[in-house]
Amino acid sequence: MRLDRFVSQSLSISRSVVAQRIRRGEVTVNGEIVRDGGVTVVLGGDVVCLAHVQLRTPGHRHLMMHKPVGVVSETKHPIHRTVLELLPQSSRHRDLVPLGRLDLDTTGLLLLSTDGSLGQLLLHPRRHVEKAYLATIAGTLSDDAETRFEAGLTLGDDLPCQPARLERLGDGCVRVTLHEGRFHQVKRMLALVGVRVTALHRERIGRLWLDEGLAPGDVRELTSADLDALHASVGDALARRTATR
Ligand code: URA
Repeated sequence: MRLDRFVSQSLSISRSVVAQRIRRGEVTVNGEIVRDGGVTVVLGGDVVCLAHVQLRTPGHRHLMMHKPVGVVSETKHPIHRTVLELLPQSSRHRDLVPLGRLDLDTTGLLLLSTDGSLGQLLLHPRRHVEKAYLATIAGTLSDDAETRFEAGLTLGDDLPCQPARLERLGDGCVRVTLHEGRFHQVKRMLALVGVRVTALHRERIGRLWLDEGLAPGDVRELTSADLDALHASVGDALARRTATR
C-alpha cells in the first residue's frame, strides 16, 4: 500500500494533510524519514511512524446491509439515494463501496467494504460464489423450468448461463440459486420460463445469510465469523469449478 494512503487511512485524515506532513519530514518508515508518499509500505511488516508515534495498520471495514427498495447500490447517483447515504454516521468511511449490485427494487443482503480485494474474491467471474434469491412471481412457470435452469439458460447477450437451481416454494414464490451476476439476471432467467418477478430479495451470499435481525435499511459490521464464512465460500466456489471441469 502507498505510504500516503496508509497514513491517511490509519488516522482518517485527508491525503493533502498527509502530503504536508510527509513533506515536512514527520513520517518515518523503519526509522528513516521518507519524503515520497508514493513509496510502498508492507502492511504488518514496515513500521510507519508519524511524529514518532507508530501508526496502526489500517483496519478494513466490512458491513452487511439489508438493502431496502428504492436505493441504488452505487456510490453516487444523479436521481436516487445510494446505499451509502443510508449509513449511520458511525458506519461511514470514505472508502466504503458496495460489493456487487442489487437492482433499485431488489431487497436483501448487500455487502459493503473498504477492501476492494474482498469484492474481487467474491465477484471474480471465475470464482463467483453462490447467491440465493427469493422471488415473488406473477404468471405460470413452464413445466420444464427447473430443467432449463439446470441446463443453463441463454439470455441472448453472450455465453449461456451457468447451471442454476430453481425451487418452487408455493404461494407464487421461488428460490433461485446461481453463481453469476449478470445484469437483471434472475428477472431475465425467470422471464424465459414464463413469469414476471414482482419482488426480489437476496437471502444469502455463499455461506453468509442476511442477518434476520436487520430491518430494511439497517446495517451492521461483519463479524470475524462472517468473514470466515465468506472466505470459505470462495473456497467452495473454487472447488465447484474444479469438480465441474
Ligand atoms: N438478479 C436481478 O434480476 N436483480 C438483482 O438485483 C439481482 C439479481
